[in-house]
Amino acid sequence: MGRVSCCAAALWALASCTSAVPNDPVVTVDELGVRYRGLARESVEDFNSVKFADDTSGSRRFAPPQPYTLGCNSSSGDEEEILHCLRDVPMDKLTETAMGYAMENHPPAGLFTFIPSVDDDFLPDRQSVLYKAGRFAQVPIVYGWTHDDGATNAGPATGYQSEADIKTAIRGFAHALTDDDYAELFALYPASEFDEEVHNYEARKAAADPTVSVHYFRAARILRDLLFTCSSLEFAAEIRKRSDDPSSVRLYDLNQSTVTPLLQGAGMVWLSGAVHGSDMDYLYNNMFPREKLSEADLEVSDRMLAAFINFAYAGDPNGDGAEAASSWPEAFPSMVNGASSQSKPALNVQLIGGPWGTGSCHLTPDTGSREGSFAPEQMDMQHPMVDSTKYGEMGGNERLQHGQRELERDRLQERCGFINTLAEKLGR
Ligand SMILES: *[C@@H]1O[C@H](CO)[C@@H](O)[C@H](O)[C@H]1NC(C)=O
Ligand SMILES: *[C@@H]1O[C@H](CO)[C@@H](O)[C@H](O)[C@H]1NC(C)=O
Repeated sequence: MGRVSCCAAALWALASCTSAVPNDPVVTVDELGVRYRGLARESVEDFNSVKFADDTSGSRRFAPPQPYTLGCNSSSGDEEEILHCLRDVPMDKLTETAMGYAMENHPPAGLFTFIPSVDDDFLPDRQSVLYKAGRFAQVPIVYGWTHDDGATNAGPATGYQSEADIKTAIRGFAHALTDDDYAELFALYPASEFDEEVHNYEARKAAADPTVSVHYFRAARILRDLLFTCSSLEFAAEIRKRSDDPSSVRLYDLNQSTVTPLLQGAGMVWLSGAVHGSDMDYLYNNMFPREKLSEADLEVSDRMLAAFINFAYAGDPNGDGAEAASSWPEAFPSMVNGASSQSKPALNVQLIGGPWGTGSCHLTPDTGSREGSFAPEQMDMQHPMVDSTKYGEMGGNERLQHGQRELERDRLQERCGFINTLAEKLGR
């Protein structure tokens, strides 16, 4: 993909930084820099820009084998010379070389071969240190996550029996958390608040499908927040704080996915929600061409495309003809420029797709924390969610109110308030 769309994708999809799927057009700017600098050289004793995700000590150096180098090494180590040479390598060759190496290193898809790390040079510091110091380009931004962004990170649901299994899953991404940190996390994501997820799964599954422990659903939500949601919220708040434009940030939570049938067909029946990358699939038709999309998916795709095109064109996802009911407001309605960043600001999050439809949800810091926000009267226990058509008879407003209550159950401000104190241990 060309330079412009690549940069646009980077702005829109920081959380979607991926080196995984060969045909995934989304490559972030950070990753490009790190990835190709890594491949530039054959002898890399001094090269520590690229850290491996599975190497917590940081001692493994990046030294790709012969077929995966680009021949841009310089005996003098002159960065300018290397850069000059790299600029002459065609994009296809860059991508093929990087993917070839990634796939050999971590078969089958090359996932997590390259992750950015602080080298004091290309990346001068951890991201949260940089954005809290205002060291970022001030541009309007649309920021978001998928509702089940951490579900695949949590691994197979059948592997969960107890709370200890949540720890094992988290350790794969965050090795530095202490027992106290885990205690706090588990208290913020108690099993009792995931009854609904278990209940929905059981209502949906076929007799032969595996039983899934509540701890899987907890792990998936914790990982979503640790890896995606909380840093997005924190960075978004910094952007808003430093901008004169009250609508400099907008947030979304996508709760629908085109790949659900594929995952179900592959036996991963617990993956019924909007998994990581679902937003990219609607924007780029990565997984299915448009003519293969269901009507419901086409609607979400059209909506997202229109919002992003409007945003790219005018800095506002709401186009001229936007219906008021589903218009997408600024993320931080109560924040004013220059305010010291509130740790728990009120949020407007655009809920996109899923059973409750699309529209804005207003989340105040205390809404989610009230005891038992999963109240039986809000949910028909006899007729749990199976698919969105069931709720088709509900009016749009009523549905969206239900969606808002569901989002409140995520207790974003409270949970992220804690998770964001772990930034250093999380390496971000
Ligand atoms: C640079 O590349 C050439 C040709 O691929 C190779 O012979 C040489 O050893 C490399 N030099 C360094 C410093 O890696
Ligand atoms: C997301 O979708 C699932 C069904 O896939 C539903 O149970 C849940 O309530 C939805 N949550 C939100 C916030 O829309």
